Amino acid sequence: MATFKTRLSQISKKNGKIILANDYDSSEKNLTTKTIQNIKTLYPYLCGIKLNFHLLLPLSFKEISKINKTAHNYGLQTIADIKLNDIGNTNKVTTKHLWNLGFDAVIANPIMGLDSLKQLVKSSHKENKGVITLCHMSAPEAKLSYDMEIKMGKSQKLYQLFLDWAITSKVDGIVVGATFPEIIQYCHKKAGSKLDIFSPGIGTQGGSAKNVLSAGTDYLIVGRTIINDKNPVSVSKELQLQSFSK
Ligand code: XMP
Repeated sequence: MATFKTRLSQISKKNGKIILANDYDSSEKNLTTKTIQNIKTLYPYLCGIKLNFHLLLPLSFKEISKINKTAHNYGLQTIADIKLNDIGNTNKVTTKHLWNLGFDAVIANPIMGLDSLKQLVKSSHKENKGVITLCHMSAPEAKLSYDMEIKMGKSQKLYQLFLDWAITSKVDGIVVGATFPEIIQYCHKKAGSKLDIFSPGIGTQGGSAKNVLSAGTDYLIVGRTIINDKNPVSVSKELQLQSFSK
């Protein structure tokens, strides 16, 4: 079986580089039906779908499995955005549940430490699953933590250390917010093709798809800009076109 990185790359060659962040708030009644509808109408413009706690907390095992199965039937990869950050044993139990639910990859927080991260990558790759780690988040206040100067041998910023750890531990990709194109460019230059760059923060949070794609982003993670629009198909189509012109 192909790796997560390859599976995502294969579908993106055909469908473009948009990953739908299928985030609904608690006022949305039929989360499963709505999500499955999104997959069925938007799949030609997507390479993947990302589920966050918006769905992971309220939905049952059966409902989440059904969403993942539907996504797979339409050729899409699925990512659990839980920013996993715990001790080795807890990470192991958590990912076992996620893989049983049918997810292809997990987003993890590298603050857990390099050894735990290596363990997580090793056990996930054994199951042909992917690991994506945070490098620099999209919210404006992320600067306060991810840009912090640290001294680990040499002086550097926290996101630079997280980038080094991502390369060393052979994760599949990193998250760098679309609101920080200069950091995307830095990571792209340093990691080259070793890591895919995933950028949330397009549209609603102020990031520009065109700017981040030219800075080196591989995949755009887009939520409210698509799902809250009156015409999600046309927004998705437009973003897909931009992602093809990279
Ligand atoms: P919107 O609606 O702003 O949704 O397009 C973005 C989605 O991505 C998540 N998000 C992040 N996830 N690192 C992540 O791993 C980040 O820096 C980051 N910023 C936003 C957000 O929770 C939502 O699901």
